[in-house]
Amino acid sequence: HDLTRANTLGLPSVAERFAAPRNVEALNESLRMARAHAWPLTVLGGGSNLILPERLSGLVLQPAMSDWWLEAQGNAVRVHVDAGVVWHELVMALASRGLWGTENLALIPGHCGAGPIQNIGAYGVELAEVLEAVHVVHLDDGHETVLAAADCGFGYRDSIFKRTLDGRVIITRLVLRLSRTPTPRLGYADLASRVGKSPTPLAVAEAVCAMRQEKLPDPAQLGNAGSFFKNPLVDAKTADNLRVDHPDLPHFLQLDGRVKLAAGWLIDRGGLKGWRRGHFAVHDRQALVLVHLGGGSADELLSFADEVAARVADRFGVVLEREPRLA
Ligand code: EPU
Repeated sequence: HDLTRANTLGLPSVAERFAAPRNVEALNESLRMARAHAWPLTVLGGGSNLILPERLSGLVLQPAMSDWWLEAQGNAVRVHVDAGVVWHELVMALASRGLWGTENLALIPGHCGAGPIQNIGAYGVELAEVLEAVHVVHLDDGHETVLAAADCGFGYRDSIFKRTLDGRVIITRLVLRLSRTPTPRLGYADLASRVGKSPTPLAVAEAVCAMRQEKLPDPAQLGNAGSFFKNPLVDAKTADNLRVDHPDLPHFLQLDGRVKLAAGWLIDRGGLKGWRRGHFAVHDRQALVLVHLGGGSADELLSFADEVAARVADRFGVVLEREPRLA
C-alpha cells in the first residue's frame, strides 16, 4: 500500500499491509490479526507530523472512525469526536455553531486522534485546555479505557502518548469541552489586530487561517510537516546571555522560570532561511518549517535537519529538538 500521499511531507513510502478500520470492532479485528502474526504496528493519522521510512513492514493502521456529536451542558457543550475526523473541519464546524474553544487551532493539519499526542497548539491555545478525555484501545489485548485529560501528562508539544503509552494504545475518540460564552483568546498581537473587539469564534478561526496561509506552506503544494523543531526551552541565564549579543531575541518566560526561544528566529538569524540542499529547503517565509522539494527521502531529510540544528548550535549554543515523529 503506497503511503506517499498519506504523509504531508510527500516522502515515498510503502506499507507491507494497511487497514483503515471504520469502527472499534474492525480495529480490534485488525489488532487480533497483527497479534496472531506478530506484525509490527504503525498507527497513522493524517500523516502531517510524521517522517515515514521508504518501507514499513507489518501493519499500518489508520483509524477511520469519523462521527462526531454534541452534548449540551448548559452554557458548555461536550463534543465527542472520533479519531478519524479531520481536525480543521471539526474546528470550522464548531466555530460556525458559535462555540468557543478551538477557534485558535484552525487549519492545523491532521486527524483529531493525533491531536493529543503532541498536544497541538497555536496562537496561545493548546488542545489540552479544551480536552476533557481521550478514549484509547490497548494494542496488547484490545481493551478500551478512557483517560481523563488531567492524566495525559500534557506539556508543550508533549503528552503521555509520546512517553509511557507510546506504542501501547491507539486513540479512538476525544471528548472536548467548549463554551457558548464568548471567551476570545487574543493574546497574540497579530491575531488581535485582525479581529474586532467582540469577534465571533468563526471570525477568529478565519483570521487564524489567514495568518497561517501567509506563512505556512500548503502541504498540497509543497511537502512539509509544519514546524520541524520545537521551540527550545533554556534556563534564564542562557537567555540573558544571548540577549546581550541579540537584544531583539524573542523570549517568553515560562511558569517554571525557564525561557522559551523561537526556533524559527534562531534558524532565520543563523542565515538559513531559504537555505536549500539537495531535495530539501528551509521555508522562505517561516524558517521553522522544512520543505520537501520532491525526489527526497527520509534519511536525506534527517541529515538536512541535523545540519540546520548543528549550524544553530554553533551560532547560538542552543540545541534544537525535532518535532515530527519517526515512524
Ligand atoms: N521568526 C523569525 N523568522 C522566522 C520565523 C519566526 O524571526 O522565519 C520569529 C517571529 O517573528 C516571532 C517568533 O519567531 O517573533 C515566533 O514565530 P511565530 O509566531 O511564527 O511562531 P513559531 O514559534 O515559529 C509556533 C508553533 C506553530 C504555531 C505558531 C503560532 C511550535 C514548534 N510552533 O511557531 O505550530 O502555529 O507558533 O502559534 O511551537 C507546528 O507545530 O507545526 C506549528 C506550525
